[in-house]
Amino acid sequence: MREQFLQVKNEALSLILAANDRQELEDVKAKFLGKKGTFTNLLKTIAKLPLNVRPELGRLANEAKETIEATIATRALELSREGENEQSQWIDITLPGKKPQIGHLHPQTHVMKEIIDIFKEIGFKVADGPELESDHYNFELLNIPKYHPARDTQQTLYLKDLFDKKGDPLILRTHGSNMQGRIMEKVVPPCRVIYPGKVYRYEQVDASHGFEFLQLEGLALDRDLTLTDLLGTFTHFLKRFFGPQTEVRFVCHNFPFVEPGLEAYVTCAVCKGKGCSFCKKSGWVEIAGAGMIHPNVLSMVGVDGKKWQGFAFGFGLSRMITLKYQIDDLRVLTNPDTRILEQF
Ligand code: DAH
Repeated sequence: MREQFLQVKNEALSLILAANDRQELEDVKAKFLGKKGTFTNLLKTIAKLPLNVRPELGRLANEAKETIEATIATRALELSREGENEQSQWIDITLPGKKPQIGHLHPQTHVMKEIIDIFKEIGFKVADGPELESDHYNFELLNIPKYHPARDTQQTLYLKDLFDKKGDPLILRTHGSNMQGRIMEKVVPPCRVIYPGKVYRYEQVDASHGFEFLQLEGLALDRDLTLTDLLGTFTHFLKRFFGPQTEVRFVCHNFPFVEPGLEAYVTCAVCKGKGCSFCKKSGWVEIAGAGMIHPNVLSMVGVDGKKWQGFAFGFGLSRMITLKYQIDDLRVLTNPDTRILEQF
């Protein structure tokens, strides 16, 4: 009897392990443990045996039954895992493909392109110039001689022992206006030019200041140009860039290289003029400096001020970008975190 139990148990175990799917496993279970199963039948015979052998055989039978049941459970688990693996290897070729990761244009590049396009439409050409600049073009030609108080406002970064060919000290340009003299010395009016680029100042870096930032400056030289041409050009550009609902406000301001000079403000794009932390609750954001080119500047670059008039302007491009995309910290623009770029 003992041997019979062991034999049935071994037979059951080998069939359980050989079962290739759930159905086969169920069949093996029924074959041995079902109502009329081999093992169940064997159990029934114990009751007919003499009393003295029953306890030992009963224990043996229970152990065998437990082993068979545990092996069935383990095999069932194995079979279901194998099924999962097969599923995960299965490819649905009707699903749309994954797009490969490609580069993104920096928000600065987007904005720069957009602005250039708007100015090109109204007849402006694009110029580029040096970031390493002489004192002459950055200050002198702009009616800012040595010891002029306006130099104090420009936190200049000087370059130790570096001079241009004329022995003029070199600096990192503090504004894009350095291009005014360079352009007007060369061109034959009438002309309209913009010049985007990086400028540098000795500034404490925080959410709204950087030691390097972008400006977009420009100038127009023509006959009979007046302040209204400047105001019209500005308003047209700002409404195109920020949207037709944008309002523009001009406030008098002194810049040594223009007369009269002014600052341009737009309604805050973040709060639509209601007042928020970006615009310091005023509803307006200062966006540019501008004015009619000063007669001193015209004469220094050899343009006849009686024949030609000009206007010039300079936008804080970094400020325009943060306003357009409602970024409340300038440092985001130079942060190498690609998750920011991926949004554009
Ligand atoms: N260069 C000035 C600045 O960086 C901005 C500016 C003001 C440019 C008036 C101009 C202008 O061309 O006319 O603060």
